[in-house]
Amino acid sequence: MELPQARDLSLVPTYTPGKSEARVKAEYGLETVIKLASNENPLGCSPRALQAVRQQISASFRYPDHSSDALREGLASRHGLPMDHFIVTAGLEEMINCISRAYLLPGEESLIPEVSFIKYIISVRLTNSLPVFIPMKDMGIDLEAMKQHITEQTKIIWLANPNNPTGRYIPEEELLDFLSRVPSRTLVVLDEAYIDFSDAQDFPKRTDRLFEQFPNVIVLRTFSKAYGLADFRIGYAIGLPELLQPVLKVREIFSVSSLSETAACGALQDSEFLSHYQQLVKQEKFRLYEAFDELKTLGVSYLMTQANFIYIETPMKSRELFAALQARGVIIRPAGLKGIRVTIGLPEENDAFVQALTQVLREDRSQG
Ligand SMILES: Cc1ncc(COP(=O)(O)O)c(C=O)c1O
Repeated sequence: MELPQARDLSLVPTYTPGKSEARVKAEYGLETVIKLASNENPLGCSPRALQAVRQQISASFRYPDHSSDALREGLASRHGLPMDHFIVTAGLEEMINCISRAYLLPGEESLIPEVSFIKYIISVRLTNSLPVFIPMKDMGIDLEAMKQHITEQTKIIWLANPNNPTGRYIPEEELLDFLSRVPSRTLVVLDEAYIDFSDAQDFPKRTDRLFEQFPNVIVLRTFSKAYGLADFRIGYAIGLPELLQPVLKVREIFSVSSLSETAACGALQDSEFLSHYQQLVKQEKFRLYEAFDELKTLGVSYLMTQANFIYIETPMKSRELFAALQARGVIIRPAGLKGIRVTIGLPEENDAFVQALTQVLREDRSQG
């Protein structure tokens, strides 16, 4: 019997999400499992957001406002920009897909750092356009190499700042210099999913206004990370309305639920919750650096981060280390062949991770 043939998707990479805590508990017979794999907020989300959601829930039987006006008003006042400079999607994953669908023609090129967020490649491949991978420089994004790869065919440049999974960042001066050398026909997507954790003096400031100087830039932000709303699926883009409208046109009409919009509006009001989490990340990242420094003798190295996760390399293969940690109840994310990415969690979670990592590396050394 001849069945319908799907199109050839062999070039589209598969995103493999980590197993849930419940599944790992059941599989390994563990009582406690710590998830440090997806850069979620370990404190949960803002109490204000939750309260707003509880109030909204009984009204959640109608279709949502498809343009998320309440949230866009909130964002407009937060950023001091007109409302039409914002669009909202079901997380940045949807935004990235929609940008690719709205802008890329088959055969056009996208420049993507070799070590970065996999969704860029997935979305580009789905449009039958071409990803051009730009080698990293000391695990950072090499803007000079990017510049050299710009051709007549370059339609989008994807930049995550801070970058995932390395946690490294592009300083302001370098970014501005680069943008001034990108032709205006090329769209630059500046993905700032982790911006709320950046504390470097030279981290780019007021990127929400970049479009004034560089009209071909769209900036992306999400409520999934610092705001703890990953499950609500909500993110936004900032840019010129002319550039954002095509993206909205290819988005699902009702993709953002009113509950998600309400949660995001509540979270935006709760600066206390946000700064509490930012403090936690800052404090714990330095504690983790110290712990990793002590593990140097076991071959551990790491990159300083501007995000809520840390990229670590060890003598073990990343898949093996991932499996050994998971068997001990700590879920992290493999990143490439040699690296892992670990989310900065609560103090006790970070301690448990360091303890498990130490045990696994000691055992590996004694066996090998
Ligand atoms: C750099 C980057 N951009 C975007 C996303 C997607 O975020 P969202 O949860 O808003 O879809 C992630 C999630 O891990 C990310 O790391």
